[in-house]
Amino acid sequence: MTQPGLWIIGYGSLIFKPPPLYALRVTGKISGFVRRFWQSSSDHRGTPQSPGRVVTLVPLDDIKQDKQFQKDIYAFEFRNEKHSKSIDLLTEDDLAVWGVAYYIEAKNVDEVKAYMDVREQDGYSTHLVHFEIHDVPIDNSVLHEALSQAPQDSVGVRRIESTVYIGTIQNLSFVGPEEISATAKVIRTSKGPSGQNIEYLKLLTEAVRLLSKDEGSGDVYLEELLELAEGNCL
Ligand code: BEZ
Repeated sequence: MTQPGLWIIGYGSLIFKPPPLYALRVTGKISGFVRRFWQSSSDHRGTPQSPGRVVTLVPLDDIKQDKQFQKDIYAFEFRNEKHSKSIDLLTEDDLAVWGVAYYIEAKNVDEVKAYMDVREQDGYSTHLVHFEIHDVPIDNSVLHEALSQAPQDSVGVRRIESTVYIGTIQNLSFVGPEEISATAKVIRTSKGPSGQNIEYLKLLTEAVRLLSKDEGSGDVYLEELLELAEGNCL
């Protein structure tokens, strides 16, 4: 049997800065998480003396254990809902983060994995997640092979099972829950070897907006954070 390729799922910088050698990019959603700028960064968008902020995912199970996390998701994810479900009734399908998935052919998997391990240090660890494919690009030579690893369910939804890098709430670089205005202040002034912190926030917010025009992939939390970080009201 031929070696399968690998799907790499991204919810952060991978959306606007793809890995090398990818053969296919699809857009979609990771369910059961929220995206927050609650991972402190001393090697990318900040320094050990003045750490910046980068994104991580917070799972529903952790949100259910902490009142401050709960307050935060009702302030952003459920802000526009008149009758939100109570926290006990929320299921993984009620939370979704828009992102991308890249298909790497078998011949390039080792090189791309090594690249990712160097790119993402500073507290991140790998975790298995499910990614629901929303948009597939027009046919290309690896589409058939890639989709064979993204089976379709009875209603036609295709899901990828693969790993993402997450800074869990137990890791030392996790700074949440942090007030959005405090995060914005840090982002506005931080800078590291990979560049200005605000540039990362801006590129991510703009890229997320473009992931789906028909379903509206814009992220209320990212939009407000960018407005605060760019504004003059802090
Ligand atoms: C990403 O999805 O772009 C990503 C986020 C955190 C660590 C590594 C990659």
